[in-house]
Amino acid sequence: MYSVRNGVRVMGEVKEEAGAAQPAFEPKIVAFACYYCAYSAADLAGSMRLQYPPNIRIVELPCTGKVNPQMLLKAFEEGADGVYVAGCMEGDCHFLRGNLRAKRRVKYVKGLLDEIGVGGERLEMFNLSSSMGPRFAQIAREMTERIKALGPSPVNRKARASAADEDAAGG
Ligand code: FES
Repeated sequence: MYSVRNGVRVMGEVKEEAGAAQPAFEPKIVAFACYYCAYSAADLAGSMRLQYPPNIRIVELPCTGKVNPQMLLKAFEEGADGVYVAGCMEGDCHFLRGNLRAKRRVKYVKGLLDEIGVGGERLEMFNLSSSMGPRFAQIAREMTERIKALGPSPVNRKARASAADEDAAGG
């Protein structure tokens, strides 16, 4: 099947146009942020009017030591395409070793995500201080670009495809 555009026969035009109608993938990213550093850095980024993608949903924690593997996996199960944990600089945790505990847990869950085919690169740990507003914005951009390159999480790719089918059938 072909069509003619500007005097040129274009093969597969119908399929290409159907593909072009697909909305661009906008990942959902959850950031578990320590109140003392990353959350404050996010505030600072806002005050400085720094631009970062709106894909990030921030969950405020008293310390990243509160993060456990179930929370991280649950975020993916609930539809996140990417997740990151942002804690205080190593040695600066207000609860002494919470960020080191989080680092170990993130590493463990990355391994699990690799094993189940979701991909450990969808999860990351960052350390920053409350004065690092620009760094917070940079991390948000980096994670958004990384997850966009990876595409939708396999966990909810199927769910999104069936939702799109339902929309198409309804519309
Ligand atoms: S208080 Fe910030 S990571 Fe522990």
